[in-house]
Amino acid sequence: MKTARIPVVLLGAMLVAFGLSACSEDADGSADAGADVGADTTDDTENDGGVDGDAAAPVASGLPCVIEELLDANCRGCHGPDPQFGAPMSLVTRDDLLAPAPTDDSMTVYEMMQVRVSSDIAPMPPPPNEPLSPAELTALDDWIAAGTPGNEDICDDLPGPSAPIGSPYDWPTEDECDHLVQLRAFDDEDSKFEVPLRNDHYECFEFEIPWGEEVHGLGFRPVIDDTRVVHHWLLYADDQEGRDGRHYRCSGAHPNSELLAGWAPGGTEIVMPPNVGLKMPAPGSRFVLEIHYNNTAGHTDAADSSGVEICATSRLRENTAGMHWLGSEGIAMFSGGETNVVGTCSPQSDEPIHILQSWPHMHQLGTRMKSFIIRADDTRETLVDKPFSFESQVSYWTPATIMPGDRIRTVCTYNNTTGGLVTFGSGTDDEMCYNFVMAWPIGALTNGESLTSTGNVCLQ
Ligand code: HEC
Repeated sequence: MKTARIPVVLLGAMLVAFGLSACSEDADGSADAGADVGADTTDDTENDGGVDGDAAAPVASGLPCVIEELLDANCRGCHGPDPQFGAPMSLVTRDDLLAPAPTDDSMTVYEMMQVRVSSDIAPMPPPPNEPLSPAELTALDDWIAAGTPGNEDICDDLPGPSAPIGSPYDWPTEDECDHLVQLRAFDDEDSKFEVPLRNDHYECFEFEIPWGEEVHGLGFRPVIDDTRVVHHWLLYADDQEGRDGRHYRCSGAHPNSELLAGWAPGGTEIVMPPNVGLKMPAPGSRFVLEIHYNNTAGHTDAADSSGVEICATSRLRENTAGMHWLGSEGIAMFSGGETNVVGTCSPQSDEPIHILQSWPHMHQLGTRMKSFIIRADDTRETLVDKPFSFESQVSYWTPATIMPGDRIRTVCTYNNTTGGLVTFGSGTDDEMCYNFVMAWPIGALTNGESLTSTGNVCLQ
């Protein structure tokens, strides 16, 4: 193994971001927060960051129904009546669309929309959400070309955001959770973290490992507090000694860390199957919770204590799952156009391997990741195939069973706009191509080959 592997080896993970939540009524930011930082606490998770879904009473928005539908399905999970997750404005009424854009008042919101829905660099909706379809793009262009006509009618049957797809298991019972722990943002006085008035602020919060023995992780669920400004968070573990109560501004790079869990809008809880527990970090190491805030809207009262609730047990389950690294380290790409990097994993196990979850990880230039199973008879099955954004890295529940003789191929797609050569490395200006796959038995999804010659990665 090489030294200084960067962020990763996700152990657990929770995200599964397919649609977005329509969660305007949780926007008061008043959660319970603060005082319970790092402590074993119980049942106060009132907002799991998932779908709340109560539709607002129908009111004419002034928009043609085709535009209403497009906004409802793709945008209002964040740009609703109370904008969420760092979105700076509502996209609800025709007036909202005709207003000046929040960050550039020489343009209207609808003109800025036209730019962002077709942008490669900062697309709306942001990945992992799929971009607008060609039909939706045409509908938007046509409406703008026609002079943004209004509409008096109420549009029925709006689609709403699609529901997130999480693991299908119920949250463990109180009895099963020997340790029910919340790791949440705080400030130095154990109150909420005051969110600075800036875009793209990353803050890291440290926690000692809250158990004294070997445990299995059984469930992870997001606790999202000030939904106006929380954009995304990741939970890492590393073997340095942690200090409860320490927090500092950070950058998104975590050398020598394991990525354990994460959340982006639409993310939901992850619960392990009944006979499987996830290997968790040992006492003496630390957790680092990195929260990405976006306060473009300028909320001066933004204060947050988002984070994660973890259910763990010292009564170890029959099977242990772990995070395995699939992908390629053979990355060298010149500027201009799309580049694919491919890595193939041929596990040596003679037992079936059970995959639970996939978590694509690339850096700034990554645009899409696909992993597929190549069965021994050469048929192919997609494991994951999703747009990628460094700014909202999420995991997907992708259950599958790998039989002896099967392989897994991972294809990372990049758009190198740097003007130079980009190679594999751990810096945020270097690139990576990993699918962190949660699977059991731990260590089965690996092979014994020397990897350096081919670049293929297939490790635990
Ligand atoms: C997952 C949440 C989310 C979804 C879904 C989403 N947005 Fe955004 N949007 C944001 C955030 C966060 C920002 C601010 C950061 C940025 O500009 O990237 C933003 C910014 C924008 C801006 C720039 C405003 C300005 O003045 O700079 C436009 C325009 C926009 N979104 C349009 C859309 C449209 C149109 C859709 C649907 C097709 C959409 N967004 C879906 C979160 C989202």
